[in-house]
Amino acid sequence: EPVAVLCGGRSAEREVSLRSGAAVLKALQQRGYRALALDAAEDLPDQLRRHEIATAFLALHGRHGEDGTVQGLLEIMGIPYTGSGVLASALAMDKAMAKQIVAAAGVTTPAARLLEASADEAACTAFCQQQTRWPCVVKPVREGSTLGISLVRQTDALAEAVAQARRYDRRVLVEDYIAGREVTVAVLCGEALPIVEVQAPQGFYDYQAKYTPGQTNYLVPAPLEAGCYRAIQQAAVRSSQALGCRGAVRIDFMVAEEAFYFLEANTIPGMTETSLLPKAAACVGMDFADLVERLLADASL
Ligand code: DAL
Ligand code: MG
Repeated sequence: EPVAVLCGGRSAEREVSLRSGAAVLKALQQRGYRALALDAAEDLPDQLRRHEIATAFLALHGRHGEDGTVQGLLEIMGIPYTGSGVLASALAMDKAMAKQIVAAAGVTTPAARLLEASADEAACTAFCQQQTRWPCVVKPVREGSTLGISLVRQTDALAEAVAQARRYDRRVLVEDYIAGREVTVAVLCGEALPIVEVQAPQGFYDYQAKYTPGQTNYLVPAPLEAGCYRAIQQAAVRSSQALGCRGAVRIDFMVAEEAFYFLEANTIPGMTETSLLPKAAACVGMDFADLVERLLADASL
């Protein structure tokens, strides 16, 4: 029975998703599955019916894909799909909600302020004037691959950073910047994989550093002190449980001197040639096609 790899779609991460989808499709075909890629456009229900799709492998990133909406459609159609369900997907996509849930579960996350969707120009100005801690990180609440994110060091750059984030989402988070090491932990079917440390060229792991081969240095397993390593893995599992994630989820943290901080959870982690989940899986001897088969085996409604 055919497996559809859902990719593309309407998100700002469309290009990344097409790369993830192509890699997943190739792996499934190599392993002998009848698989095809479908672009998750408006006619997705017709495409799924026409091809009599039995299972959906989600390689969508960002809005209308990673945020519970496509998951809801698949629920209605009765087609099992990989990864998290509707609620966990929606919660994790929303960085403000995810921070609250994870903090309530006892995992530290950087202090932040939220600019609401309804804020007009005057409210935006007032919001920027109230910022007192520098540097800060300005993020669209629902976006991925660092799109719309700025590191802001001083007050005169804040308004422009907020305006830029608002092009992606009218809700914007301004978070304390944590100076430290950037790590990520993939939780695969409830178990933490080895931690990956990311050393980005300019110290900021942006879109270019994420997707240009050779730009970023990856250390797997991350060279952290054993107690800290274990604590971060545990915090990742706890965060995943608190959000109610399934399948694979990749949780990003900053590690400072004494503490580590939850940044966000990615419920459809990138599967491109430079992506982090495949690197973590490879570290435990699971090659890319093994990982894809494992995720497919876990597909459910
Ligand atoms: N949002 C990108 C695809 C990631 O988390 O890997
Ligand atoms: Mg993300």
